[in-house]
Amino acid sequence: MGAVTVAGRSVPVGCGLSMFDPIYLGRDEYGRPVYVRLIYKNLLSGGEPGSGKSTLINAICCHAALCADARLVLFDGKWVELGQYEDVADKFVGPDLADAIVTLKRLQRVLDNRYAWLRAQGRRKIVASDHLSVIVAVVDELAYFSATVGAKQDQEEFSTLLRDLVARGRACGVIVVAATQRPSGVDIIPASLRDIFGYRHAGRCTTADSSDLVLGRGWASQGFDASAIAPEQSGVGYLLAEGGVPVLMKTPWMSDGQIEAVVDYAAWTRRTDTIPDPAQIAEVVSIKEAA
Ligand SMILES: Nc1ncnc2c1ncn2[C@@H]1O[C@H](COP(=O)(O)OP(=O)(O)O)[C@@H](O)[C@H]1O
Ligand SMILES: [Mg+2]
Repeated sequence: MGAVTVAGRSVPVGCGLSMFDPIYLGRDEYGRPVYVRLIYKNLLSGGEPGSGKSTLINAICCHAALCADARLVLFDGKWVELGQYEDVADKFVGPDLADAIVTLKRLQRVLDNRYAWLRAQGRRKIVASDHLSVIVAVVDELAYFSATVGAKQDQEEFSTLLRDLVARGRACGVIVVAATQRPSGVDIIPASLRDIFGYRHAGRCTTADSSDLVLGRGWASQGFDASAIAPEQSGVGYLLAEGGVPVLMKTPWMSDGQIEAVVDYAAWTRRTDTIPDPAQIAEVVSIKEAA
């Protein structure tokens, strides 16, 4: 851990990244690094189990954790996919649909307040110099909340709230990143929700149709077909982002230990208590010694 010494005192080095910076998401088939700016965008990752969705989400979570201007809100029906980030998250929602709905409603309120603030200034979107934190809402295995647990009515409410967040969050610094196994129309994610994610990532899919369901209609027939990815190529997928054409790329896999190290450091840079003044510590010690 880095630290600089100022006037005889050790001051920890803060986090050096921003959500307005490009995020490293891996390497393309020519070995070039792939960077994507997620601010004012949302990202959906789809693909079969083991295709590398969570790995991509980890890259984004690690970046966000190290950003001074990011706050993480995590939804994880399995606990363990995003569990390592609990210490750096403002809110961690486990397998609890009611909690997920309440959390989305709270985010909706933040959205309303931020838009009122922007409107009062005659502006359309937040910028880095506003120093508002960017809220990164990450949902791993979206289908768990939208189609698996709870009553149908609650699943629909979850999807409606999330759709509002995706549709309105961008301009006011709320980014949604979601992963799902099978982004097929009605049963898992309503098409109206799927279609408003601007950026898409397709890990290996079983059919060309499923690949098109993630990336958008017609890409498979033009050669951008995630079902052509070999099953053993975990982490390889097509990313449809800034260039407008899907890029074949591989996500940067991190071991649990590496993630832990990043989160540990990030949690330290995000601590809310201040470093005790060495002079005060010396005073306390000398009082105790005198007693
Ligand atoms: N970029 C990668 N390089 C090497 N192995 C990877 C990569 N991405 C994923 N894997 C392997 O695939 C496994 C499943 O990946 P994961 O991201 O959890 O898939 P999903 O979330 O789509 O089910 C990982 O545990 C890892 O072993
Ligand atoms: Mg996963």
